[in-house]
Amino acid sequence: MHAIFSALGEETRLRIFCLCKEAELTLTDLCQVLGQSQPRVSRHLRILRQVGLIERHAVGQNMFFRALRREPLALDLLKLVERHADRQGTLKEDVRRMQAMLDIRASYSDSLERDITRADEAADFLYSTDESAFALLNSLAEQTGTIERWLDIGCGSGALLEALAVHCVEAVGVDISKERIAVARTRLNRAGHKHCSVQLGDMYGVPSPDQSFDFVTLHRVLIHADEPARALAEAARLLTDQGTLAVIDYASHAQQDFGERFGHKWPGFERADLLTWAEAADLILVEQTGLIGDGVTSHVMVFHKAAKASQAGDQNVA
Ligand SMILES: C[S@@+](CC[C@H](N)C(=O)[O-])C[C@H]1O[C@@H](n2cnc3c(N)ncnc32)[C@H](O)[C@@H]1O
Repeated sequence: MHAIFSALGEETRLRIFCLCKEAELTLTDLCQVLGQSQPRVSRHLRILRQVGLIERHAVGQNMFFRALRREPLALDLLKLVERHADRQGTLKEDVRRMQAMLDIRASYSDSLERDITRADEAADFLYSTDESAFALLNSLAEQTGTIERWLDIGCGSGALLEALAVHCVEAVGVDISKERIAVARTRLNRAGHKHCSVQLGDMYGVPSPDQSFDFVTLHRVLIHADEPARALAEAARLLTDQGTLAVIDYASHAQQDFGERFGHKWPGFERADLLTWAEAADLILVEQTGLIGDGVTSHVMVFHKAAKASQAGDQNVA
């Protein structure tokens, strides 16, 4: 505790902490807003990381820094600073400058988002199913109660994260595409979802320890996986024993050109295949709401870990 207070007792570090609670920022961003040199800001960031107030993650060449919300004391301090920072001229001015910088970046991201949306729509006519899929996931999240940590694997441009953010204390999105991550970050900043973050990552190796999340989603992502069984096993590894995994993906169809046109690696999935892969990952199907979508349909499946299912006496609906 002493180390934390002494870290925040230095003015620049308090300013950095305040900025990193507002948004994920790079070292260059922080230097720009604070008007200080890289070695200096870098040294302060190291101290804030050592005491557990700031965490960092890499996106391509860039390293992003954000306030850590998992530690109870850090969370209390964040709330305290949030309540009082407005009255401090310097801190208020920092946030204003940071916002101006992010607004400029958002205008770049807007055109990127338009490009991505156009490409996605061209590559995937089933985007029209998003609304029903989001509604289903929304009601699942409501049933689940407060979600402590949610992981959206293959989060794309962050639409699902934005839609479900209200249900969780913290959310992380990972995606292999740097462009989509950039769009998702802007989308979440704009929505004011400070508890949501996104990072570059691979569905086969998400850089988080085992059992880090109590809710995991794979929404239209397995269809792009060479090895869906491995992706499901990775999702299971990341899930707490009491956690819930939701998978929404295409059911088998006869449209032979989808691979070439839309980059799908599979002609949809047989329900039995999804269940076999899930079972190999120690996952038990607890709910299947059926198929959604017109023409080409999608499976909606909810899994628990086998351990949880046997404790709760869940019925395997397979
Ligand atoms: C059809 S989009 C779905 C995006 C999002 N889940 C949604 O429904 O809006 C598929 C996403 O999977 C991502 N993806 C593909 N391969 C991946 C991998 N190996 N690891 C992580 N994400 C991947 C793509 O970049 C893309 O954003």
